[in-house]
Amino acid sequence: MIEKIIDITKQAGEILKDGFKKNFEIEFKTNSSNLVTEYDKKSEALIIDFIKKEFPDHSILAEESGRQDLSDEYLWLIDPLDGTTNFAHGLPIFSVSIGLMKNRELIYGVVYDVMRDALYSAEKKAGSFCNGHKINVSSNENLKNSVLVTGFPYNVSENPDKAFERFIAFLKNSRAVRRLGSAAIDMCYVAEGVFDGFWEVALNPWDIAAGKLIIEEAGGFVTDFNGFPMNIFDKRLLASNGKIHQHMIKVLNQVELFE
Ligand code: IPD
Ligand code: CA
Ligand code: CA
Repeated sequence: MIEKIIDITKQAGEILKDGFKKNFEIEFKTNSSNLVTEYDKKSEALIIDFIKKEFPDHSILAEESGRQDLSDEYLWLIDPLDGTTNFAHGLPIFSVSIGLMKNRELIYGVVYDVMRDALYSAEKKAGSFCNGHKINVSSNENLKNSVLVTGFPYNVSENPDKAFERFIAFLKNSRAVRRLGSAAIDMCYVAEGVFDGFWEVALNPWDIAAGKLIIEEAGGFVTDFNGFPMNIFDKRLLASNGKIHQHMIKVLNQVELFE
């Protein structure tokens, strides 16, 4: 199964690579920051075609075409192009993300960081890998020495869920905070020990599914902002190497107290 998911994720990535920096159609979704290109749609169509042929009774939740409910047992979560803004502006940081749940539990996650040709994969209870090599979260215990990453939703100008205050609080309490523009890649970098932690206030299940399993199988924690288990349909996500998790919760809780 994992080989099949890896294969289709890579094929979708090849479509994106072919389209990168070409002339393509761009449409707006909710506002002028929220784009969708013809390549988001092409990548998604390829993945959905594959699932329908190979697993005709599985359910699918894909960003651009919504949910197709067939069985409750298996659910595929698909982000055909995570990092659309980067892609549309010629910045080579974008990915394809595919997760699979069985009876509401994540069992497979695959993320392809297309332009770095880095393929991240995880299977429940079998570890996480990048291009076949086992990966692990960092061992850093000190938030002050940590490099963190975050992202912002498309309505960021409205400062949803104190997104600005949280960003400032982490800037003040860590070595650095990065913003790459692909939540799936952000999470793979946590799994690989490049970043020590990641948080975001308004994610979607297709952003989260694969990355969550990849971090957990690499030894990291993925929770809500209070350290409780989160499910992929929750909006807020806190991920870390585990060692700085409580420190990150403390910073997030301080922000909760702001007016
Ligand atoms: C977005 C990216 C970004 C995150 C946004 C997502 P998209 O996904 O993952 O890093 O900050 O919240 O919506 O729209 O490029 O698939
Ligand atoms: Ca996304
Ligand atoms: Ca997307």
